[in-house]
Amino acid sequence: MKKLILSVLCLLVLAAGGAYAFLVLKSPEAAAPASVKVEATAERLERGRYLFQVVADCGGCHSPRNPEKFGMMPTPEGTGSGFVFPDGMGFPGKIVGPNITPDLETGLGQWSDGEKIRAIREGVSKDGRALFPFMPYQHFAAMSDEDVYSLVAYINTLPPVKHALPRTELDFPVKYLIKFAPKPVTAKVGAPDRMDKVKYGEYLVRMGDCIGCHTQMEKGEPVKGLEYAGGHEFPVGSFLVRSANITPDEETGIGKWSEERFVAKFKGYANLTYENAPRTAQANFTLMPWYGFSQMTEEDLRAIYAYLRTLPAIHNPVDMHPALAMPQS
Ligand code: HEC
Ligand code: HEC
Repeated sequence: MKKLILSVLCLLVLAAGGAYAFLVLKSPEAAAPASVKVEATAERLERGRYLFQVVADCGGCHSPRNPEKFGMMPTPEGTGSGFVFPDGMGFPGKIVGPNITPDLETGLGQWSDGEKIRAIREGVSKDGRALFPFMPYQHFAAMSDEDVYSLVAYINTLPPVKHALPRTELDFPVKYLIKFAPKPVTAKVGAPDRMDKVKYGEYLVRMGDCIGCHTQMEKGEPVKGLEYAGGHEFPVGSFLVRSANITPDEETGIGKWSEERFVAKFKGYANLTYENAPRTAQANFTLMPWYGFSQMTEEDLRAIYAYLRTLPAIHNPVDMHPALAMPQS
């Protein structure tokens, strides 16, 4: 009997060791980068700027930010030169939004356009490693070919900034599990149909990664069944904000909001600039990129509203700006 237990134990250890070796050695699913050289037309540069600064807030994760300015606004200088996320935010490791300016040594200066497109939509870095899916590539996978070309055309024109940063360091086992996240985009991705307001809104909501911030997390995972129902906590230094419930629930979500009220809420921040931004306080602390989203066209905001109305209403009361007992600096 003892012998049997021993052999079973040995087998288990071997199996676990094998699984571990498999995870360590596994490379992410990756296709060769496209051999495209993106032509920078004026139209693409403008569309790319809009996607980068407004809809997808690339700058929010890839630019230095000022914690003292409302919404931790990105600084006007150094756009795209990278951002190290502060400790204590509940990430499984040290998270760094890399320098994506065209600097030759510390940015994407040596990357081909195809490699940039692959990183953005498929989550594979130049060297073939899987990117941590906090970089919303699983949503950007739906980005149209023309939109990703526009983005690449735009980031190619960012002023190169020499800014060396450490690499993202994930804890075990997340560092191995993320190898399953990248997926090649194999077919052409057409532009979203703007005439279909709900579908177009869904596209924008994916590009803006609303679900990433507006879904409650538990042990680093979004809670199933609470998509868009808010309550995701963002502790930064001595401040804490929880995201809003943006499902159509009448009591705890935005069910009672008219389309006009929704648009007005965003447009209420339209004059916000780095210079006039209020000082961060617990009562106004947020990571919602109002600075960018408030610049969205009304057509786009109305489409987003139309899509959000189609979500299941989820009852989930959220205290967005809790009064904190902690002393504030
Ligand atoms: C929510 C935060 C977030 C947003 C929004 C975001 N990124 Fe990222 N991005 C990251 C992080 C973090 C990494 C690095 C992940 C890693 O190293 O595992 C990354 C990696 C990248 C890389 C690969 C760089 C390298 O050196 O491997 C590129 C290119 C990139 N992002 C471009 C973009 C663009 C363009 C946008 C906007 C369309 C964008 N990102 C939006 C967080 C973000
Ligand atoms: C980086 C995180 C983040 C992203 C991305 C984000 N939000 Fe938010 N959002 C928040 C937080 C935190 C709040 C609560 C504090 C505040 O109102 O600023 C909030 C508040 C809101 C509110 C106000 C609700 C109310 O009851 O006052 C609306 C509406 C909203 N978000 C919609 C969206 C939409 C639509 C998107 C995607 C296009 C989005 N958010 C993306 C973090 C985010």
